[in-house]
Amino acid sequence: MEKIVLPDIENFHNLDVYLANGGYTAVKKAYAQTTDDIIDQVKKSGLRGRGGAAFSTGLKWSFMPKSTDKPKYLCINGDESEPGSFKDRQIFEFNPHQLIEGILITCYAIQAKSAYLYIRGEYHKWVNLMQKALDDAYERGFVGEKMKETFGHNFTCEIYIHKGAGAYICGEESSLMNSIEGKRGYPRVKPPFPAQNGLWGNPTTINNVETITNIPPIINKGWEWFSAIGEPKHPGTILFGVSGHVNKPGVYELPSGTLLTDIINIHAGGVPGGKKIKCVIPGGSSMPPLRGENLEGVKMDADSLRAAGSAIGTGGIMVMAEDTDIVRVLSRLSKFYHHESCGQCTPCREGTGWMVKLLDRIVDGNASKKDVDLLLNVACNIEGNTICALGEAAAWPVKFTIQRFREEFEKYTADTASIDMPNKVHSMRKTVNPVAKVEV
Ligand SMILES: Cc1cc2nc3c(=O)[nH]c(=O)nc-3n(C[C@H](O)[C@H](O)[C@H](O)COP(=O)(O)O)c2cc1C
Ligand code: SF4
Repeated sequence: MEKIVLPDIENFHNLDVYLANGGYTAVKKAYAQTTDDIIDQVKKSGLRGRGGAAFSTGLKWSFMPKSTDKPKYLCINGDESEPGSFKDRQIFEFNPHQLIEGILITCYAIQAKSAYLYIRGEYHKWVNLMQKALDDAYERGFVGEKMKETFGHNFTCEIYIHKGAGAYICGEESSLMNSIEGKRGYPRVKPPFPAQNGLWGNPTTINNVETITNIPPIINKGWEWFSAIGEPKHPGTILFGVSGHVNKPGVYELPSGTLLTDIINIHAGGVPGGKKIKCVIPGGSSMPPLRGENLEGVKMDADSLRAAGSAIGTGGIMVMAEDTDIVRVLSRLSKFYHHESCGQCTPCREGTGWMVKLLDRIVDGNASKKDVDLLLNVACNIEGNTICALGEAAAWPVKFTIQRFREEFEKYTADTASIDMPNKVHSMRKTVNPVAKVEV
């Protein structure tokens, strides 16, 4: 199978190797066409964002206003902080120049003269690797003023790497822009949307690292080629990061629509000890979990996963074997979302805290069945009532785990315990019990 984003070419990260394999030819081809033509090709290719929402990339680009004197910006989202997601760092390490070339083409298409590549703060190694590749590209005239000479076109653009400081919320696009502007990473209320009012109030497009890395091959080989790969409504390959209870965890580039069971059992080598699967979270920890017995026939693309009751998210597949304690997994994940809530809106700030307290109470064996209903109620009151989607990211795991794994909670609950929340607050806070049985 042909790989688009992480080709099997030795030392592909090296500029000379990249050039020897057709590197930086797509950008020249793109600059010989109109910006509308480029956007049209990306639309027709069917490329959908790989950052979580699977939104049409070409359509997103077309939202950028044309008749404006304001500067325009591109932000490339490499914050990658969702538990279970670790695919963008493969691009920083193994294919940085295709990402840079994708940035150059995208900037031309939306007429942005500055691009900010936002990289997760903890990714020191990958920031350095990416900076090295960018320095090489500048030195050889592929980025910046020298582009005019290199590509024989008047368009120039600058690329800046911006390192995050360790906050998951800065992956949310409006928070990311605030962070680049030097402000606290608070999500902004939308509308206005970034295409109208983004970085420093100017038109801005935000795309994921993997999304942008797909652009040069689309331009070089044509949208027809790309749209014929994988599932027609969500074409191309997807980087699936497989973690948890599998023999060969790692990132696998496969056509969209590949069977989830094939990814787990064939590519990732199956579950150690031949154990059964209890649960799979198919798209990063905020996506609804699926029961092990419901995985047959589930395809890994946005529409198939929606039909199966989950979502593609970042393609981070978290596998949990039959002896995993799902309640403890949920408890651990809920602590993450509570910790990462920026605190701007009450349902998220308070609700994530209450979910942690209730889960602690359940794990401690001090809860009743009514506490589980209360937990579900808190989750449902966060969903849809917040400024940004971290609310859903925190609420969905709780809501869907309770709905789909109710019996796991019943192992912990006894009908005798009180649900008198206010009086229990202090006693509930004391236990912080990290997940014991699953590596995520
Ligand atoms: C809390 C939160 C965290 C997010 N983190 C990331 C991230 O690390 N990387 C990413 O590409 N998108 C992340 N997103 C989604 C972005 O807001 C945005 O939709 C995405 O970067 C768009 O890129 P795409 O259209 O190429 O998918 C996050 C969203 C939320 C609500
Ligand atoms: S939903 Fe949570 S993370 Fe998002 S703005 Fe509100 S408080 Fe902040």
